[in-house]
Amino acid sequence: MALILYTTAIGLGLFALLQWIWTRRNLYYLSWQLPGPLAFPFVGNFFQLINYHENLKALLKYSSKYGTLFRFWIGTKLYVITTEPSDMEVILHHPNCIDKDDSYKFFEEGFGTIGLFTIQGQKWKRHRKLITPTFNSRSVNMYVPIFNKRIKEFVTTLSSKVDSEAFDVRAAFILVFIQMILDTTIGYNINPEGVNVYSKFLLEGQIMATKRYFNPFYQLDFIWKLTRYPNIAKEVSEYRTALFEKIIKERSSVSEDEKVLFLDRLLKISEENSDFTMEDVKGEGNTAIMAGSDTSTGSLAMVLFMLAMHPECQEKAYNELLTVFPDKDHKDLEVTIDDLSKLFYIDMCVKEALRVFPTVAVIARSARGDIPLRTYTIPEGASIAIDIFSLHRSKKYWGDNADQFIPERFDGGEKLLHPYAYMAFSHGPRNCIGFRYALVAIKLVTVYMLLNYRFTTPLKMTDLNYYSEINLHVKEKLMVQMHRR
Ligand code: HEM
Repeated sequence: MALILYTTAIGLGLFALLQWIWTRRNLYYLSWQLPGPLAFPFVGNFFQLINYHENLKALLKYSSKYGTLFRFWIGTKLYVITTEPSDMEVILHHPNCIDKDDSYKFFEEGFGTIGLFTIQGQKWKRHRKLITPTFNSRSVNMYVPIFNKRIKEFVTTLSSKVDSEAFDVRAAFILVFIQMILDTTIGYNINPEGVNVYSKFLLEGQIMATKRYFNPFYQLDFIWKLTRYPNIAKEVSEYRTALFEKIIKERSSVSEDEKVLFLDRLLKISEENSDFTMEDVKGEGNTAIMAGSDTSTGSLAMVLFMLAMHPECQEKAYNELLTVFPDKDHKDLEVTIDDLSKLFYIDMCVKEALRVFPTVAVIARSARGDIPLRTYTIPEGASIAIDIFSLHRSKKYWGDNADQFIPERFDGGEKLLHPYAYMAFSHGPRNCIGFRYALVAIKLVTVYMLLNYRFTTPLKMTDLNYYSEINLHVKEKLMVQMHRR
C-alpha cells in the first residue's frame, strides 16, 4: 500500500514538473538559441553572481564574451540582456514590455512604498498621466528658491571639512539631498536624527532589494522571513506612514497660495480624481522621495568626485562660473534657472559623470506577450535587462576612451551615434519622471560647491571597483579632500 502511495506521489510530482517545463518551453527554446554562460537547473547562473559586488564587471565581461545580446538565468527566471541601443528602443516602447520586471516588487518591500516606479498596467498609465505635469519645467523652477536656501546653509556647515581628512562625498551629501527632497515634496524640516533615519532606510532598502533580486534562495518567502530584513521593512513602512499622516493633516490648514509642494499637488489630484486615493497620495509621495534621494545624491557625488580626480576639468568649470557670476563676493548669490542655462561646461561634466558611472546601471522589463527582437522572439514570461552600464562603456558608441571622463565629448551638443546610446535617465514612456528636478538640483549644488571649495582626491579611475546595489556604488567610496577657494 505504502509503495503504491509513494509511487503515485512521485508520479504526480514528475507530472507537475513536466507540465511546468512544458508551459515554459518557449523560454527554454530562446535560452538555447542565445549565447550565455553555463546555467544549472533551478539556480541558473546564481554562482556567477554570488558576489554581487562584482555584478557590473561581470556584465561587462559577459557582453564582451557573448556579444550585445545574451542570456542569463537568475534561479528559474530567464533574463535576456542587451547592451545595444537599438534593442533598447524596441523594448522600451513595445506595448508588451511596459511593465517592470517582477523583481521590482522587492523594491516595494525594501523601500516600503508602492508608486510609479513599480506599479504596472493601467494603474501605472493613469498615475503617470496625472503626475507628469508636477515634474514639468514650471513646477521644478518653483523649487529653485527652496533649493538655494538649503544649499547655502549646507555650504556653511561643510566648512569644518576644509583642509581636513578626506571624506566620503556621497555620505556627506546624502543629508542635504534628503533634506532638499523633503523640503520640496512634503515640506518637512527634518532634524539631523530624522535625516539619519531616512538615509539608513534608503541604504537598507537597497541592500534588501539587491539581496532578494540576485539570490534565488532569498526569493523564497519562508527563507527570507528567517532573516532580519522583514522587520526592517516593517519599521520603514511604519515610520513613513506615521510621518505622512501627520503631514497630510498639517497641509489641510495651509493657505492655497502656500500649497506649492509635491504633496499639495498630489492631494489636489486626489480631490479631483476619485480613483486616486489617499493610499496613492502616500505611495507616490514616498516613491518620489525614495526614487529621487539616493539617485540624485549618488550622481552629484560622482560629478564632484570626477572633478576632484580631473583638476583640469574642475578649473574649466570654475572659470565658467567666474564668467557667469563675476562678482568676487558670492555671499548673497541666489542662483537662478537662467544662470544654470548658461553653464554649458558644467552641463557637460554632469552628463559625462552620469555616462561613465550611470547611477541607475541596469533596468529590467517583463515580457507580457511575444516581443520580436532581431531574429528572435522573446516569449511571455521572459525578463529583459537593459545594461546601461555596459552601453555607456561601449567603444562602439563612445570610442576607445569610453572608460575615461572627458566632458568635452559632449561639446557642441549631443552627437550620438544612436539616440539611445545615452541612457542615464532611460527613454520611452517609463523614463525618469524626475530628470529635470534632479538635473536642476545637482547643478545648483555643484555651482555653490565649486564657487566655495576646490576638491581633490588621491584615487584614480583604475583604482575603482564599482557595483550595482540597485544604484551604482564604488567600493573604495568617493573620498575627496576639500580646500577653500
Ligand atoms: C540623477 C538622478 C536620477 C537618476 C540617474 C534617475 C534615473 C532613473 C531611471 C534610469 C529610471 C528608469 C527606471 C526603470 O525603467 O526601471 C527612473 C525612473 C524613475 N525616476 Fe528617476 N532618476 C533620478 C532622479 C529622480 C528624481 C529626483 C525623482 C523624483 C523626485 C525620480 C523619480 C523617478 C520615478 C518615479 C521613476 C519611475 C517612472 C515610471 O516608471 O513611470 N528620479 N529614474
